[in-house]
Amino acid sequence: MREIKRIGIITCGGDCGGLNAVVKSVTQTAHSMGVETLVVPNGYAGLYNLIDMEAPVVLTPARVDSIDANLAGSEAGHSRVKISKIKDPDKYRKIRDGLNKFNIDGLVISGGDDTGSVMVDLAERGISCVHVPKTMDLDLQPYSVGGDSSLNRIARFTEELKTTGLSHNRIMIVEVFGRYVGHTAFRGGVGAEADCILIPEIPVDFDEVYRHMKMRYMQRVERSDVKAGTYTIVVSEGITDAKGEHIYDEAAGVDAFGHRKLSGAGRYVRKQLEQRMNTDPEIREFMKKKGFYVPGVYELPEIREVIPGHLVRSGHSSAFDVNFGKEAGAAAVRLLLHGIDGITVVKVRGRKIYYMPTKDAIKQRLVDLNIVSLFEQQGICFGREPVPYEAEFMSVEGELERHL
Ligand code: F6P
Repeated sequence: MREIKRIGIITCGGDCGGLNAVVKSVTQTAHSMGVETLVVPNGYAGLYNLIDMEAPVVLTPARVDSIDANLAGSEAGHSRVKISKIKDPDKYRKIRDGLNKFNIDGLVISGGDDTGSVMVDLAERGISCVHVPKTMDLDLQPYSVGGDSSLNRIARFTEELKTTGLSHNRIMIVEVFGRYVGHTAFRGGVGAEADCILIPEIPVDFDEVYRHMKMRYMQRVERSDVKAGTYTIVVSEGITDAKGEHIYDEAAGVDAFGHRKLSGAGRYVRKQLEQRMNTDPEIREFMKKKGFYVPGVYELPEIREVIPGHLVRSGHSSAFDVNFGKEAGAAAVRLLLHGIDGITVVKVRGRKIYYMPTKDAIKQRLVDLNIVSLFEQQGICFGREPVPYEAEFMSVEGELERHL
């Protein structure tokens, strides 16, 4: 075992569910091994400024007991700061001095790809750190705390939107966070039984979306004895058009890390569908036939977009994320004390703690399009002509790996 007496806890990047479980379990596990923990506040911004701090919060048993692991967000605070971008030639010395000032022997750092890339940089400079994967985007190689909480919230919000959609016979579009991968829209959308899910991995063919929407919407109204119908679309903020070009509002600018802030995908989808509806005489005819056409006032079904934004990563953590966060936090402490650092925690299975190099863990993981086909065959539109699911059959030999 390595001589580690004090661990600093950092959470960085976008906050999400399960992080407080990480903070708590790192602390409680450390205490059980005679090690202290303290909060390096507000992510890498706090790490850079640590040297000037008077007294960072030491997580005593009483202090850690006051943290609610079920609440999303992080008691340790967040920022989006890339250390290498700081225009201070002394930045790494300053960080080392800050760690020495408070006798911090190692760091547990929870964050996504950006945070992980900074951690690799710190580890290469001899700072002892272990990475706990965190991102609601689910775009890392291992599971990351926060993903399950967010997709559950997306599923709930989307599913609940159907009541208003149905009452007004509207087409509802939900634009969700997830950056340049579609995991949250995909899994949240399936969870909500959305009719259409648009993800960055599939350039959107809006003729196909319109065809599916028109057919399904009309069928619903047709079958309803009160002539009620709706159609639900979940769209990733990072979708591309048919040419593979990203759709975003240039005016939104970039965040502190230098990433473009994504916005405008929901509005773009609405406009594409409205254009097609406006020039489709069959829709007006349908409205007339069903008795809800009002000339000059209400000639076409309305399409509305809803952007839950930060709500999808706020509020409460899922029970799964609390469990994963607590296991991963405990694993991180044990790795650090064992002298295994510069790595990312993957999972805990029985007595085995799995980990991998952080530079590999942060490689972008895309949605598996084979699984998309599985759902296309069940009638969900993914903005393209459905692709058949080609099954391979595998018999599992021996013991099954447990999930939790
Ligand atoms: O990476 C997590 C994430 O929630 C993305 O899905 C989203 O694009 C981004 O963060 C929003 O970041 P911010 O909180 O800085 O607005």
